[in-house]
Amino acid sequence: MTRRIDIVEVGPRDGLQNDPGNLTTQQKLEFIQRLEEAGVKRMESGSFVSPKAVPKMADSAEVFAGVDRAKPTRHIALALNEKGVRRAIDAGADEINFVLVAGEGFGKRNQGMSPSESADMLMQCAPLIHEAGIPLSATISVAFGDPYDGEVDPAVVANLAARAQRAGVGELALGDTIGVATPWQVKALTERVLMEAPDVFLRMHFHDTRGAALANVAAAVDIGVDVIDASCGGIGGCPFAPAATGNVATEDVVYMLERAGFETGLDLPKLIETAKWLETVLGHEVSSSLSKAGGFPA
Ligand code: COA
Ligand code: ZN
Repeated sequence: MTRRIDIVEVGPRDGLQNDPGNLTTQQKLEFIQRLEEAGVKRMESGSFVSPKAVPKMADSAEVFAGVDRAKPTRHIALALNEKGVRRAIDAGADEINFVLVAGEGFGKRNQGMSPSESADMLMQCAPLIHEAGIPLSATISVAFGDPYDGEVDPAVVANLAARAQRAGVGELALGDTIGVATPWQVKALTERVLMEAPDVFLRMHFHDTRGAALANVAAAVDIGVDVIDASCGGIGGCPFAPAATGNVATEDVVYMLERAGFETGLDLPKLIETAKWLETVLGHEVSSSLSKAGGFPA
């Protein structure tokens, strides 16, 4: 039987939040619609954070109000504090992805929280999300390395995972926010996390800053991870991570996995077409390989 790997499209959130290009709300909605036409069923459609911290996500409520609810897409809202969680619920989010942070340096700059404070905040917010009947997932950012503090202790990541499990997080992503993970680190950290949080369902979030993102996807799939974050065109990055570059590109992941016999449910030519459309609205080239080379066999 063909193994299915689900891709969570994060282009409309992680992709756009730090891109030099500025999309109007209408263009963001067109991006979302194109992704839906390419088969995307789950995507991060915006974030509910301080508009001063991330101006490009300031119109997320309008984006959530404008999406086509007749489509089966699950629109995920990113949040990292109670105000964000309340705004996401009011905006009609289908799922809330909460951001935990594994490094002190990044945590302070990104969200004004230490790792344990981010877990306390999750504990405080989780009941609100459960009461609203919305699925709760979480991402542990800088799980593989912090841009300010360097190496991150796997024990910190495992402890955050255990607290996330206790908060009722169903799916937990290990986030390589700054693209420093290696395939071997992916395996080791995953094993460590599953020892302390055996009931969470794992997802992986890789950035391609240092060229290892696809190898990391392959390593994760090899050890049984079934859900991968990716952004169309490979756009993306975090405003609080110096030299951060894009997420692993959706079309590159789809190509690699489908060529290896996995099923993603996504339409490669339509993803490539969307990546090329993004170049026109963002006003610059995107980084994905497939948008340049095309698939194989043609
Ligand atoms: N949505 C909208 N506004 C928010 C907010 C939210 N979720 N959380 C806080 N704010 C507002 C406050 O109301 C306050 O507004 P004011 O200046 O008009 O009074 C302002 O932001 C500062 O709030 P404060 O609680 O003092 O937070 P801070 O200045 O320490 O910043 C965060 C903390 C979390 C709000 C901010 O760092 C943030 O939004 N970071 C997001 C980072 C991000 O999205 N990174 C990429 C994804 S991981
Ligand atoms: Zn990211």
